[in-house]
Amino acid sequence: MIPRLAARDSTASFLLDGYTFGRRRFERLRTNAFRTRLMLKPVTIMRGADAARLFYEGNRFTRSSALPSSTLLLLQDEGSVQSLDGAPHDHRKLMFLAVTQEEETRRLVSIFRDDWERAAAEWGTLEEVELHAALLPLLTRTAMSWAGVPVEGGAVLERTDEFAAMLENAGRFGPPTWAARTRRNHSEEWARDLIRRTRSGQLSPSAGSALRIITDHLEADGKPLSTKIAAVELINVLRPIVAVGRYIVFSALALHRHPRWARSFASGNDSDLENFVNEVRRFYPFFPVVGGRATTSFEWNGHKFGIGDWVLLDLYGTNHDGGIWSDPDRFRPERFRDWNGDRGTLIPQGGGDVAHGHRCPGESITVELMKEAVRQLARHLVYSVPDQDLRVSLRRFPAIPESRFVMKVAARRLRADA
Ligand code: HEM
Repeated sequence: MIPRLAARDSTASFLLDGYTFGRRRFERLRTNAFRTRLMLKPVTIMRGADAARLFYEGNRFTRSSALPSSTLLLLQDEGSVQSLDGAPHDHRKLMFLAVTQEEETRRLVSIFRDDWERAAAEWGTLEEVELHAALLPLLTRTAMSWAGVPVEGGAVLERTDEFAAMLENAGRFGPPTWAARTRRNHSEEWARDLIRRTRSGQLSPSAGSALRIITDHLEADGKPLSTKIAAVELINVLRPIVAVGRYIVFSALALHRHPRWARSFASGNDSDLENFVNEVRRFYPFFPVVGGRATTSFEWNGHKFGIGDWVLLDLYGTNHDGGIWSDPDRFRPERFRDWNGDRGTLIPQGGGDVAHGHRCPGESITVELMKEAVRQLARHLVYSVPDQDLRVSLRRFPAIPESRFVMKVAARRLRADA
């Protein structure tokens, strides 16, 4: 049976406890799932590898009506891959898998390295650098030039503001989200213009670039995407690349808190680099939960779910589940040395199979950008971290260190091949 919380509605506690809302209750009730109400609506909240499998495999859930519409409109939008299910979803997902294939990921990292080095040369001339603020335009520019989008005029700065506002306000309700929504409309207009100019031959992005692949993509019925949906999907590639900046800030924080890793990477020893960035993605908070509505009836843990039932999978709770991770509150990259790669355990970017479910198609991009940033920070930048408030509030969605990581850059060590 799945226990039900005594409280009539848990919305206030959810906002108060933030990322730890699920975890506190799973631990108190010694359960991996419980039922309650949020915004007065009945919901089942679950964590763990079994829950991730249930949620991500077998097409049991749709994302429609499963998130507050303010969040959906800012992060994914109607008609996007996330709003599709079954065969139409899997067909559209192929487009994202083409955009993020290995060769393209390598090209992205190489552009990112060049953009970082150019920016870092300037950081050395400044009194202080706030890493998060510095990364936003840097990653926007990287994402745009990689995607085949002209990096012209004020486009980088405008998109930087708009993408940052979309993510910053995704966990909020009411007026702040309306302003962010207006910005999103602005970005969509810009993206629609790019799709039109590509279709008319005015722009010719290279084969393999996101702009080219999305513009030319044919749906299963042989028709191209409408200009509106193509624009939405282009933004759904660009915006999350900028969001990786948060993980880079958390990586910098982890290097600062655990200097032995900084020393190890500085010495050129990369053997645990991927384990380190995976531990950053496991340990630090990003999206707290994902929501789904049942599209079929089924039984799980003695509870009968009916069509339309609302479920939240606790991503942060699963990444901190003591039943999966020993000592989950310790930052310990070594734990990944013998990790079995179970697709339901490390789920900051969703679980299950990427091609046939809603798991994030940008995971390898995220990991590779983070690895490059860690190399740059540990090996090529000499910096100190002045006194500042590095606390990360677990009540703020999406989380970030209060000070957003301020550094004093003293010098750069150039790459041997630079
Ligand atoms: C900051 C790093 C990122 C985080 C924390 C993140 C998180 C997530 C999560 C949790 C989901 C699953 C949502 C669900 O189950 O409904 C998802 C899906 C998605 N992500 Fe990411 N993501 C990140 C980076 C990226 C990147 C770099 C891309 C660029 C390609 C991307 C594109 C997408 C798309 C298109 C989906 C929808 C997939 C589908 O519905 O099949 N994400 N992401």
